[in-house]
Amino acid sequence: MRLIFLGPPGSGKGTQAAKLIEKVQVAHISTGDILRENVKLGTALGLKAKEYMDAGKLVPDDLIIEMMRQRLQKDDCSRGFILDGFPRTVAQAEALEKMLNELDMKLDAVILFKVSDEVVVERLSGRRGCRQCGAIYHIRFNPSLKGDSCQICGGELYQRDDDREEVIRKRLDVYHSQTAPLVGYYGKRGLLLEVDAGRSSDEVLKTILDAPWGRSE
Ligand code: AP5
Repeated sequence: MRLIFLGPPGSGKGTQAAKLIEKVQVAHISTGDILRENVKLGTALGLKAKEYMDAGKLVPDDLIIEMMRQRLQKDDCSRGFILDGFPRTVAQAEALEKMLNELDMKLDAVILFKVSDEVVVERLSGRRGCRQCGAIYHIRFNPSLKGDSCQICGGELYQRDDDREEVIRKRLDVYHSQTAPLVGYYGKRGLLLEVDAGRSSDEVLKTILDAPWGRSE
């Protein structure tokens, strides 16, 4: 199974990817998570990416494309993958198409998470993540049973720097101007599956699991 999760910030891509990989053994590749790990480790990539991420802007295509070229060649991708947050521009989509051709891999589907801007703001301003294991919570919709600690590993829960309302609005603008054109790009290729991501997490997961993306396996 090879899927792309496409959708605005806060539409639930990371939440659904985490649920899906409990059911199917594929790699969950989140460009946001890889970048945040690089920022934490203070790598050259992390140092370059941080200013863009903090401002809610996209990290330049050449950095992202090179990062993904390396990631897609790792062994765990041979069983399939979910790309969460990549591609985000037409240039990234074109580069991905070329990379997959070279690796002799084919995409099964691009799942489009549709949700309104107001839902995004509500979800992201209440999001909390675990510093240790990366689990995602929401103070109202999905609180941790252990309060300010992660119910899975006990790690500390924190709020992302880019989950402040003014940065969320900027990220939404960037999504509409630079990423939304990918809807047409993948629509033309017959790969798009639209999901109403404003529903409950379980309903969204059911729609994804019921879809015919497994046909090439
Ligand atoms: P990234 O980390 O990818 O952020 P994003 O795409 O903005 O997506 P999010 O992680 O914010 O949201 P999500 O859709 O995963 O939602 P979640 O499941 O957490 O990117 C961060 C930055 O890195 C970018 O701004 C950019 O600078 C850079 N970057 C990354 N990739 C790049 C690329 N390819 N090119 C260039 N730059 C790149 O859910 C959100 C909240 O809602 C959670 O609290 C969750 O509990 C809750 N929730 C989820 N589903 C539901 C539901 N159905 N009902 C109620 N609540 C729900």
